[in-house]
Amino acid sequence: METSTVAAPPLAVETIGLTKRYPLTWKRKVLVALDGLNLQVKQGEVFGLLGPNGSGKSTTLKLLLGLIVATEGEARVFGLPPESLEARRRVGFLPENPYFYAFLNGDETLRFYGKLCGVTGDKLDKRIEELIDLVGLQNGRERPLRSYSKGMLQRIGLAQALIHDPDLLFLDEPTAGVDPLGSAQIRDLILKLKKMGKTVVFSSHLLEQVQEVADRVAIFSLGKKVLEGSLESLLTENQSTQVLIPAEMNPEQQERLRKFIGQTGVNESEIRFTRPHLSLEQLYLRTVQAQPDFVSKDSPRP
Ligand SMILES: Nc1ncnc2c1ncn2[C@@H]1O[C@H](COP(=O)(O)OP(=O)(O)O)[C@@H](O)[C@H]1O
Ligand SMILES: [Mg+2]
Repeated sequence: METSTVAAPPLAVETIGLTKRYPLTWKRKVLVALDGLNLQVKQGEVFGLLGPNGSGKSTTLKLLLGLIVATEGEARVFGLPPESLEARRRVGFLPENPYFYAFLNGDETLRFYGKLCGVTGDKLDKRIEELIDLVGLQNGRERPLRSYSKGMLQRIGLAQALIHDPDLLFLDEPTAGVDPLGSAQIRDLILKLKKMGKTVVFSSHLLEQVQEVADRVAIFSLGKKVLEGSLESLLTENQSTQVLIPAEMNPEQQERLRKFIGQTGVNESEIRFTRPHLSLEQLYLRTVQAQPDFVSKDSPRP
């Protein structure tokens, strides 16, 4: 029998026992910011790093970007050391609190970062058009960044991170401080990037937002990864089955249904009837967007 020997593509991210300790000299103690992290992210995945403040999310991203040096363990990006030029070319980064020049407009900002990355001429012009379109910032092209909302700043930050067309994006708290509508736009953008085949690793402490975009998540606590898996596997209750009936049922109908299901061998007394809930966020977005004169400060006017 013939066997094909096609090598598997390298993982987008791999860490083995990755550890970062900071000496606290004045206390003669050591702070363990990240403790023996083993992580694998496949190409094309959207991966969420979750955890409270100080749990090691930003430390993980900084190590994967080669911005800080590990105390122990290893990190690989597309199989390469993160600090190598080859790896850097394939990686884009949106920091937690990006600092931009407030007096530059959207176009000028992208031009500036494009030149820093060695993109010039017609190629840069074309790239700016594409990115402004992708992040929906037509209304910010000629406005100085000091007049941007927080959501617009995060989106120009995302465009900046994409200027050299990287394959992998690290986003540190991309929706922190952004209102729900602006956050939904950033979430949609992450989904667009996934469709384009990019790998996205992002951190957040806003759980619902992660739920809507991430394929897999890891939960951190005090520098340790304490839980990891696909959202499907983590959030599915295997011991139950939910049947959705698109109508209200009166008590008599419920009783008949209970008897009917009971015939399949299920204990009738354990069958519960509940009404599905919207999340508060879904309700909010639905309500705000349904207003006839609704114009988002964050979205371009038609
Ligand atoms: N340069 C540093 N010096 C000392 N401690 C640091 C430094 N950077 C981060 N830490 C500490 O490491 C821990 C993890 O931080 P961080 O990765 O930024 O957490 P998160 O992004 O999850 O909020 C925190 O306790 C933080 O105070
Ligand atoms: Mg952080």
